[in-house]
Amino acid sequence: MPSSPQRRILVTSALPYANGHIHLGHLVEYIQTDVYVRFQRLRGQQAIYLCADDTHGTAIMIRARAEGRSERDLVAGMREAHLADFAGFQIAFDHYGSTDSPANRRLCAEIWQALRGRGLVVARQVQQLFDAAAGTFLADRFVKGTCPRCAAADQYGDNCEQCGATYAPADLVDPVSTLSGTRPEPRSAEHLFVTIEALHGFLDRWTRESGALDPRIANYLAGHFLGEPLRDWDVSRPAPYFGFEIPDAPGHFWYVWFDAPIGYLAATEEWCAAHGGTLADWWGRDSAAEIHHFIGKDITYFHTLFWPAMLEAAGLALPTKVRIHGFLTVNGQKMSKTRGTFLSARAYLDHLDPGMLRYYYAAKLSGGIDDIDLNLEEFTSKVNSDLVGKVVNLASRTARWLERSGLAARYPDDGGLFAMAAADGSAIAEAYEACDFARAMRTIMLAADRANAYVDAEQPWKLAKAGPEAAGRLQDVASVALNLFRQIAVYLAPVLPRLSEQAGTLVGGPIRSWEESQRPLAGLPVAGFTPLMQRVEPGQVEALLAAAREPAAEAKTTQHGGTTMDANTVGTDPAAAIEAEPLAAQCTIDDFTKVDLRVARIVAAEEVPEAKKLLKLTVSLGGDVTRTLFAGIKGFHAPESLVGRLVVVVANLAPRQMKFGTSEGMVVAASGAGAAGVYLLSPDAGALPGMRLR
Ligand code: 2FM
Ligand code: ZN
Repeated sequence: MPSSPQRRILVTSALPYANGHIHLGHLVEYIQTDVYVRFQRLRGQQAIYLCADDTHGTAIMIRARAEGRSERDLVAGMREAHLADFAGFQIAFDHYGSTDSPANRRLCAEIWQALRGRGLVVARQVQQLFDAAAGTFLADRFVKGTCPRCAAADQYGDNCEQCGATYAPADLVDPVSTLSGTRPEPRSAEHLFVTIEALHGFLDRWTRESGALDPRIANYLAGHFLGEPLRDWDVSRPAPYFGFEIPDAPGHFWYVWFDAPIGYLAATEEWCAAHGGTLADWWGRDSAAEIHHFIGKDITYFHTLFWPAMLEAAGLALPTKVRIHGFLTVNGQKMSKTRGTFLSARAYLDHLDPGMLRYYYAAKLSGGIDDIDLNLEEFTSKVNSDLVGKVVNLASRTARWLERSGLAARYPDDGGLFAMAAADGSAIAEAYEACDFARAMRTIMLAADRANAYVDAEQPWKLAKAGPEAAGRLQDVASVALNLFRQIAVYLAPVLPRLSEQAGTLVGGPIRSWEESQRPLAGLPVAGFTPLMQRVEPGQVEALLAAAREPAAEAKTTQHGGTTMDANTVGTDPAAAIEAEPLAAQCTIDDFTKVDLRVARIVAAEEVPEAKKLLKLTVSLGGDVTRTLFAGIKGFHAPESLVGRLVVVVANLAPRQMKFGTSEGMVVAASGAGAAGVYLLSPDAGALPGMRLR
């Protein structure tokens, strides 16, 4: 690579709403963004990945009311669940903030002042639908009725899914509040508006000329919005509203879509507070940093018109790229709770390896706005044939012959295979840069095909049987295969961070740079081989679909901080456990308090290959306090599915020296007659690491 100056790249994904759990549709975006960021780092660029929970608005207020808790309590619980889901999928944010933060409140006020200063804020009376039964004005999404244009029934208050018309909720025929089921009444209240028409000329130029948008998006904006005067943007809501009260307009709150994108700035500022630098280093007009927003096509309008207008008015840097993707369908249709295809992140993690979805999505994403389909049969066959059959297999059928000898002292003649795949490096990098991950995956899999054909032709298993005179050739063949495997692991590292770690453990140490794909290794030790990934069995996919069909799946994940109940609890004898193990002798409260039980988050989990029952866990008790311990749960939980989840640990148990290391505590789990299994306990959503059980 020519040594060009290091790029500084700030990358964001859309901030997920705090009123719902992460599902596989969300993950199209987070996985895509995470792959992009990891790719940039591997190439030696400085990339920071920022995100936050989008916490404000009517939906959160209504959900909190329905659950009888405060909005902040709800938001705190959901944050924990989101973080656990993201960690489970190896989405590695550099900072994850919240739009309900002091930094965000302050930055909203600053941008507001800038808008006021430029005379862009006006007040007007607005008629909005008011639900007298629920005591609140209704956001567009809380009103349904008949489309005024095409008469389709059951349409939301902002646009018609049938004919695409956009309108005001009051225009619906026979509107009904989805909160109370009553007919809402129009009421008048003062709202504050940003007159973005004043920035029309700027938006015309920016959308076409900045290079931030795909020309097709620029054309769409020109055709749908910029061809006529831009409507004033209604950015305030009257009380009651969960959000920030506008400092110079008491009783009025910023609309959630005003403070949400400013959350990108707040997250940057918070990241700077921890790592150095200032907001201006990234968002200053003269900053050389790049800003890349990854978003779904449904929020194009906000990110390509409102947000640039706000940044322009505030004198801040504009996005370098707004990267827009399509939606996820499952088996060809929109995800649907009734069809049992609404797949939550947590349910997936309970049944399948996160790396598999990362790879499958990567193989489908080509950088455009087309929807992508998760076809579960294709998922199974693609993962099994590409990841297990081509990539993992390359290591699993050759590494063991190098455990004693290590890699050959000089890289053997491989007929040009390594060089050929090394030469593919720039095309693969270009594809990653363009977010055409599908193209990158295709090129990488062709290299894997060539490598496997080499192994098939050389038949190392025959060399292994041929005795000592074939030992040198066997070492050479296995050294070539393992080098080709590691080269592929470098190229796949942005998509499969865990596989690349495992490849590094097997041979050559951690993969840190793209350049490692360009040079083969020689004369290095090779570690004992442990399985890197298992085939997907049809039963696992069926179990995932069964979990999605459970009627209370969403409620259950809310209550239990993201954990669904194990399917094999069904149909067992409810009395068996208590009969098999009667209660222990009475103890006093003092006895109980001697045991310091704490909520903890699993931050790392790995197999102990030599142990039948044990997994090695690192848990965080909050802050810097961690414990490493061994838990007898192997076979019941895949290690990668545990990372990020909350459990209960005995935190003051005397350390115990075990064969594999010291265990500094114990994870609490239930087991007994009545159901074969070991069941980890999870606190309700909202519990935090370090909290004591009493
Ligand atoms: O559409 C959504 O899910 C929004 N919560 C995205 C906000 S992105 C940004 F602008 F904050
Ligand atoms: Zn319509």
